[in-house]
Amino acid sequence: MKIKSDWILPDLKAAQKRTKNAVPYINHFELEDYVRYIGKGKKYYISTFGCQANQRDSETLAGILDAMNFEPSEKPEQADVVLINTCAVRQNAEEKVLGEIGNLKRVYRENKDLVIGVCGCMAQEEKLVHTIIDKYPQVRLMFGTHNIQDLPNMLYKVIYQHERLIQVYSKEGEVYENLPVHRFGNDKAWVNIMYGCDKFCTYCIVPYTRGKERSRTMEEILKEVNELKKDGYKEITLLGQNVNAYGKDLATNYDFATLLAKVAETEIPRIRFMTSHPWDFSDAMIDVIAKYDNIMPFVHLPMQSGDSDVLKKMGRRYTAESYKTLFDKIQDRIPGVAISTDIIVGFPNETDEQFQHTLDMVNYCKFDNCFTFIYSPREGTPAAKMEDTVPSEVKSKRLAILNQTWNKYALEKNKQYEGKVVQVLVDGPSKKDPSTFTGYSPENKIINFTGENIKAGDFVDVYIERAKTFSMDGKALCYNKNK
Ligand code: 5AD
Ligand code: SF4
Repeated sequence: MKIKSDWILPDLKAAQKRTKNAVPYINHFELEDYVRYIGKGKKYYISTFGCQANQRDSETLAGILDAMNFEPSEKPEQADVVLINTCAVRQNAEEKVLGEIGNLKRVYRENKDLVIGVCGCMAQEEKLVHTIIDKYPQVRLMFGTHNIQDLPNMLYKVIYQHERLIQVYSKEGEVYENLPVHRFGNDKAWVNIMYGCDKFCTYCIVPYTRGKERSRTMEEILKEVNELKKDGYKEITLLGQNVNAYGKDLATNYDFATLLAKVAETEIPRIRFMTSHPWDFSDAMIDVIAKYDNIMPFVHLPMQSGDSDVLKKMGRRYTAESYKTLFDKIQDRIPGVAISTDIIVGFPNETDEQFQHTLDMVNYCKFDNCFTFIYSPREGTPAAKMEDTVPSEVKSKRLAILNQTWNKYALEKNKQYEGKVVQVLVDGPSKKDPSTFTGYSPENKIINFTGENIKAGDFVDVYIERAKTFSMDGKALCYNKNK
């Protein structure tokens, strides 16, 4: 397939570069008349894969499309613009996306004016973009994580000037403020505190797809939180690939602990944050989480492996011992805290003994929840070049053993809640059974419960009758709308 001269294709080498250059802050967003009415009488549909950062990006895409007078659509079949916001973290995430793009071929056949756009982390990958150029002619637009704010202009070009457009910058990135946002939730909201990642764990593609670590200012974050509070939001989640690094790139001496305390003082009812790296998780952070009632007692602390040699090869900057020390400290100093983790099995050449160290660590920590993955080589990362002699059957077997192990502890942990009362922020009626409601406890446990006169956004006290591995069942005692 011919590459057009005005296309900008991704370049993983360029994306890897880190300089000490100041981060550009851009807080001006305005639509010119030639793009403002492109969406009049037209609809959009956004499909989002992957992490919370992507969900938040989709809210910005929706906000921009609203500003261009598009309306949201329930189904891709009714849309004029379909955007697929993609994830590149593992091969199976990519396969799901390619499956969805494949399915859209049928819709495109019936409506040749349909604009199918692919954006997000997969668009930052060289190989993937070439695959889509060659094999998926129904995709008329591809743009990267650094190009979102230019959506109006890109759509103008695709709709009025070109057949296809590819615009993927590979750079450290900027901080954009004041982009429009269409929040998908009415009670819970995502708040970016920083973008990108500089950790370069050897297995991970994220630092290449999302640029360098760059923080929003504390003033902007607090302004957003206060507005959310005023709009009636009950819970916010502060987002960053590695929130402990917050503020390191700013000229001020704010760090994450300072920010967290300031956010708590807004008195928004519930605060969560994601994700913390075990390296650089400060005592001050632990103290702040313990001090404020509206910071939820829940920490997601990715361990990745319980073996120090594997951790070193992963470039994780901590050992199994230091992870344990931090884990104990968090558990001892934050009353009632729940701790979850991410674990990768089958990192190149992981031995049985090294895998056993991971199991030992799970037996020690007894996590409340684990997200477990088989290592997936990502082109362009250092680990993808490492020799790997572990057969895939062995990796699958390790994953099954690991899951059995942590499931046992998750159930054990949940059993401790039986006969107790927890406060639940209600998401709404359960999809399977409208007489049952579902929501989350402060410790991030999924609670399904029965009750009356309950709606999304209520805080309800729930008596826990039965614990399961992934959720708990109970009944509402009373509810208090205003807390
Ligand atoms: N293979 C498998 N899992 C990965 N993760 C990140 N990169 C990879 C990869 N190449 C996992 C890590 C991370 C989580 C978001 O995804 O556990 O914490
Ligand atoms: Fe990936 Fe490591 Fe950065 Fe997390 S900290 S996004 S695992 S490179």
